[in-house]
Amino acid sequence: MRWYLAFRYPVQAWDTYQFEKRYAREKLYQSRVQEYDRYLRDPTPTLSAHFPGADVDGLIHEVQGKRALYDRIAQLSAKPQDFLYKSVFGIGTARGELLYAMTRLLKPEIILETGVANGYSSAFFLQALADNGRGHLHSVEYPPMGHWKDPRIGILVPPELRNRWTIHLGNSKRILPKLVRQLGKVDLFLHDSDHCFDSLLFELRTTWPAIPPSGVLLSDDITMNNAFVTFCDGVGRQPINLREPGETHPLGFVPKTLRPGEEGAGHAPATP
Ligand SMILES: C[S@@+](CC[C@H](N)C(=O)[O-])C[C@H]1O[C@@H](n2cnc3c(N)ncnc32)[C@H](O)[C@@H]1O
Repeated sequence: MRWYLAFRYPVQAWDTYQFEKRYAREKLYQSRVQEYDRYLRDPTPTLSAHFPGADVDGLIHEVQGKRALYDRIAQLSAKPQDFLYKSVFGIGTARGELLYAMTRLLKPEIILETGVANGYSSAFFLQALADNGRGHLHSVEYPPMGHWKDPRIGILVPPELRNRWTIHLGNSKRILPKLVRQLGKVDLFLHDSDHCFDSLLFELRTTWPAIPPSGVLLSDDITMNNAFVTFCDGVGRQPINLREPGETHPLGFVPKTLRPGEEGAGHAPATP
């Protein structure tokens, strides 16, 4: 950390110090990570089971036709040195298309996500909300020191999609409790911010009570520690982990209410 920044931005400097300390301890919280492999599922049949009659591939095809969105991503990604965040930070196109399909199927009034970076997830959510003709995205982002309100935050989001978007700047640990209370309900939640054990668990537990019976909770980067499986245990669920072909990390998927016969009921058996 550069020390002059620490003097100018003491709260962020303290949070960064805490983050680095927690991150160094993460190995203590990885004992159950191998459980995730047992619950790897293909996204299309899993979503079709939760949204009966859903044409997931058709929706993915639909978003692939949104030239303005893909052209912007291609154009900006050609100059990754201009990004505020390393371009590899984002969920990428395949997972973005999955978020699009889920949003089209769920037709949420309120989406809440943590972690904006260059705006992959935000862009696909907002494209789906525009196509639904309803709904609003609230995104929580804690920018790097010295880059508060930097216009490059969420730069991948085309300007014409921004009318349904509110960004809340700050640490999700401070912002989420009040924001979730103000929103009253969160139809679709995506965690993609600080993946350390206690932060991830905190975000999932804070948001879960606000998700209505029809809603869905999603978490990226669940294989970094035990937080997701610990959360699932607490709400009496097995972790369902969606992985698209070619992706390395699964996306945790927890619908608030399971349909009859849908996978996910019960606890994950303890690792031998
Ligand atoms: C993996 S990136 C998000 C990628 C984004 N969802 C996308 O698809 O492009 C993680 C982001 O979380 C932000 N972040 C890290 N810790 C945070 C915290 N405590 N609260 C809010 N945002 C945080 C980082 O600044 C970074 O932009």
